[in-house]
Order: sequence, then structure tokens, then C-alpha cells
Amino acid sequence: MDRLLITGGRQLSGAVEISGAKNAALPLMASTILCKGETLLRNIPNLKDIKTMSEVLANMGAAITVEGSCLRINTDTLLNKEAPYELVKTMRASVLTLGPMVARFGCAKVSLPGGCAIGARPINLHLMGLEKMGAKITLSKGYVVAKAKRLKGATIFCDISTVTGTENLMMAAALAKGRTIIENAAREPEVEDLANALNKMGAKIAGIGSSVIEIEGVDELHPVDYAIIPDRIETGTFISIAGITGSNLLIKNCRYDHILAIVEKLRETGITITQEEDGLRVIGPPPGTLRPADVKTMPFPGFPTDMQAQFIALTSLAAGTSIVKETIFENRYMHVAELRRMGANIEIEDNIATVRGVEKLIGAPVMATDLRASASLVVAALAAEGETVIDRIYHLDRGYEKIEDKISNLGGNITRVKGGRA
Ligand code: EPZ
Repeated sequence: MDRLLITGGRQLSGAVEISGAKNAALPLMASTILCKGETLLRNIPNLKDIKTMSEVLANMGAAITVEGSCLRINTDTLLNKEAPYELVKTMRASVLTLGPMVARFGCAKVSLPGGCAIGARPINLHLMGLEKMGAKITLSKGYVVAKAKRLKGATIFCDISTVTGTENLMMAAALAKGRTIIENAAREPEVEDLANALNKMGAKIAGIGSSVIEIEGVDELHPVDYAIIPDRIETGTFISIAGITGSNLLIKNCRYDHILAIVEKLRETGITITQEEDGLRVIGPPPGTLRPADVKTMPFPGFPTDMQAQFIALTSLAAGTSIVKETIFENRYMHVAELRRMGANIEIEDNIATVRGVEKLIGAPVMATDLRASASLVVAALAAEGETVIDRIYHLDRGYEKIEDKISNLGGNITRVKGGRA
């Protein structure tokens, strides 16, 4: 398994380009199931999860070609209406093929995504919504089997706002007969990006970006040429890197309107963040002067759970105590034990982390446990004294494109060690 070697303590400088958003790319790739023809998706990041979703679609019969950051996906002949366990277990977002398959073919067989490091992450709301639209759902040998002659519009209330649940139901409703209303819909920019692409495909979706989404079903959709939004979590991760290393960075191709909660909170720690002509100018305070701040993770437009781990790494060096409350997932503090190995002083009680800032972090061998936990270890390692070795960085490769190149180009001392013991 690959490892990252990082020697911290350096001030970084220069500009970094943000890649396309993984969590916009995945539902958009699944949406190609809804119609025949060739879809062109642009600004697609080169990530493990994108390759996995491509395998899932190819396994159904799609023809996929990669041209740099463009994906050409032809879905004329999708003979196999199944997303198999061996693929779904490596990436739970494969469940996003369920809604589109039932909508286009009237049947689907998708492996139930297993548990995940950060929480149980059930898909009961995805299934409840499809049943409300008339699908017959059965569970057999770890698979969800869904059948419907033609889905019909329904009013669906999600008692928890679910990102991929909203995306699955929106895609299913796009081809249903009649009107669907999704109440308490997720408002994440990635949901909005999918809705905009669906409307370009000929769907009739209103209320985009709000918590009440209305979809007037149509009989068919057509393929599109669509460029996806930049990754707001990668943007927040690089702002955290500037903050913890006291660096002056220019962050290019990011969407300021997607990161308002992140900007507000990180400004509170003393990081200067201003919009310039060609990007976001981010200046970290001198080392030792970072201020503590309290945060609670919330659905968009609140502070995103996917930035919680990076925020804890940042505030582990603040001059004071920060209180972090994780409200979305039940087990999303696995980075804390690893940060403690580097000298961080963090207590966890229930879903609240008390982060008492320390003078310095010391490099150490640590292990990535999930995607954003691994990002937090990179943030911490860049400010730590000495060398940090981060193991199992396949977690990181799921969501960050060429991160060691981007950090090296900013002057960071980071190298990838290929292979090595399991
Ligand atoms: C999406 O996951 C993202 N993944 C996650 O990003 C992100 O952390 C999460 O949204 C929250 O923002 C993708 O978009 C591919 P949810 P998702 O359904 O859709 C509960 C990353 O780091 N829930 O919004 O799976 C669930 O357990 C990943 O890029 C149900 O109870 O998250 C959780 O507590 C990690 N029943 C809460 O809702 C359901 O049917 C929010 O989950 C669905 C969800």
C-alpha cells in the first residue's frame, strides 16, 4: 500500500487549482443511465471513486472513454441492470445507480452498501422514496431488488436530509409519470449541480437549491455535454493547509458561494480569506497565533461534516480550546487517535470533540482510516515538526486528485512511497 512521507514546518506559497467535485461527478455519472446516447462530462477529477463508478457503469454495458478530465459515457446498450457487491462494497455511492435504473428500465438489482468506517449509513430513505413512487422493493441475499412498471410521481418527506437520497429520488422522479415533491431535500451544491444537468437533459425540476424540490416527470431525456462544479471540500482543505502553515496561497477555480460557512468559520481562527480577480487569496496567521473556534457540522448551507476532520487538525495548534460537534455521522472521529499520536490534545465525549491547542505537533507514523481523516493527517503533518508517514493513503486517493503534486508545487516537502507491506 502506498504511503505519504511529509516533513512539516515549511511555509508554502504559490497557487493551487481546485479539481472537479467528486460528489458532483458520481451522481452525474449515474444520471447517464437515464437516457440513451453519449454524454460528455467535463472537469472530472482523476480519482479512485470515479474509476469505480466507471466500472459499475461498464459492468452494466456502458462504453466509457477518458479524455483528460473529460468522460465520454455511452449508455445505448445497458443489458445488465445490476450493481454487484464486489463493486458496491468499495464505493457506497454505487447506490446512485438504483433510481436511474428503475426509472429507465423498471427494474434494478443493487447490492446494499455495507457499513462504512464513519457510520452505519443506511439507505432506508432512498428505498422509502422509491416505494412511494410505486416501486416494489425486496431485499434478497444482500441485494436490493426494485421493480416498477413505471414510477409515478409522489410527495416524499425525508425526515433526515440525505444527499445521495435526494439525488437518487430526483433522478427516479425525472422519468416518473406525474409530479414528485421531495420535502426536506438536501441543498448541497452537488445536488444542485445534478438538478441543473438533469434540466439540461430535458427534465423539469424546480426549487433547485431549496429544501423543497418539485419534479414534473417526462417521458424521455437526452444526453448532454456538462462541466461539473469544483470541489468545495478540497477548497476548504487547502484553506486549512494555508492556515496551519502560516502560508499565503492563491486558490484557483473555486466557487465562493459554495464555501460561505467554511470561510466564516476559518476566518474566525485568524485566517485571512479574500476574493481576488483570479481566485481566493488565503493568508494563514503567523504560527502560534491561530485562534480557537467552535463548530457544529450541519447539512448545507451549514459547516460541512466533510470538513470536520481538517478543522480539528487546524485547531489542534490554536492558542486555546475549540469545541467541535459532529451531528451528521456517528463515528467520524477516527482521525483523533492518529492526531493524538502527533501530540494533539483532543478529548471525545459522545459526538463532541474538545480540542485543546498545543504549542506544536511532532511528526509520527500514522494511519489513514477514511477519506477526510486522511486529509486531516496531511494538514497536521504539514505543520508538524519532523517527518510524518501516513499509511493506507488509498483512502486519500478516493477524493483528492494528485494531492502530493499540488502540495509539492506549493513548496511542501511531501513524497509518495509506492507499494510496501500490506
Ligand atoms: C454524501 O453521503 C457524501 N457522499 C458524503 O461525502 C458526505 O459526508 C455526506 O453526503 C454528508 O454531507 C457523496 O455525495 C457520494 P447522507 P451520503 O445520506 O449521501 C443518514 C466524502 O467524504 N441517512 O446525506 O451517504 C446517514 O446515516 C463523503 O466525500 C439515513 O439515515 O450522506 C447520515 O447520518 C463521506 N438514511 C445522514 O443521513 C438514509 O436513507 C446524512 O447522510 C440516508 C441517509
